[in-house]
Amino acid sequence: MEIQEDEKGYIVKLENGEEVKTKYVVICTKYPFVDFPGFYFLKMYQETSNVIVIDPKEELFEGMYINTESPTISLRVIDGKDKKLLAIAGFEHKTGAKIDLENSYNYLEKIAKKMYPNCEVKYRWNTEDCIPLDKIPYIGDFSNIMPHVYVATGYKKWGMTSSNIAANIIVDKIMEKENIYEEIFRATRLEPIKNREEVGNMIKESVHSLFLNKLNMPKEQIEQIENGQGGIVEVSGKKVGVYKNMQGEIFKVKPVCQHLGCELSWNNLDKTWDCPCHGSRYTYKGKLIYGPSVKDLETYE
Ligand code: FES
Repeated sequence: MEIQEDEKGYIVKLENGEEVKTKYVVICTKYPFVDFPGFYFLKMYQETSNVIVIDPKEELFEGMYINTESPTISLRVIDGKDKKLLAIAGFEHKTGAKIDLENSYNYLEKIAKKMYPNCEVKYRWNTEDCIPLDKIPYIGDFSNIMPHVYVATGYKKWGMTSSNIAANIIVDKIMEKENIYEEIFRATRLEPIKNREEVGNMIKESVHSLFLNKLNMPKEQIEQIENGQGGIVEVSGKKVGVYKNMQGEIFKVKPVCQHLGCELSWNNLDKTWDCPCHGSRYTYKGKLIYGPSVKDLETYE
């Protein structure tokens, strides 16, 4: 939940109220949960990708493929219980973006049908990844002013590979050994924030979600939300995030992210509240699913 310096090193505060005293800290919580002085929320965003798994109902090719064009689609043959299945991943988008998510799985299913017209979709899910502004993971010292605190994040969907590199680099740093890859992944490098376009986009999104969106009162009232739908409505002059389940039961949250206060977007596909600023996600009941936030949402009766 928090890292505090003390004279012998650091005190790490845990969710259950316990504290761990240590000389070394490795922040490997996917998105770092400590904002300052690392400022990773300025040099990284989160992206969601969708995946479907199909039974092709005919003989499947062998191997694993990824295209070089945009949008990216990857194909992986996987072992099902008694037959081979195919995982198709794609439809990457910035978490919390206001886009038509309903279409995301249809898009992948169309690709599947083109290859295997009689296929059956067995599973579908989505996953979230941290993307550094210069597309290279951040591995090594968390900040120049916090000695012995290390970070490993921003794997850009290459977690199996990058986490192994991170383990090697950070172990070598703690053991005070040289590592030839250290410089490539140096987490305190300045290159990412020199990417003006990406930094500009991030600032624009934050200004909208932190200030401008909050000034606009939604026109929708709670009665207008249909069963199975959600959104931000106005209740007695206040903005309230509402979800109505199929039985008409209502769940209300304060639609403000517990990380740095951006206004959340309703994700009607997954029935979650998503943050467009740095990608924290919450259930419709306000329970935290993904960081960097470390707290649940405030809820209303
Ligand atoms: Fe940073 Fe929501 S994740 S403000």
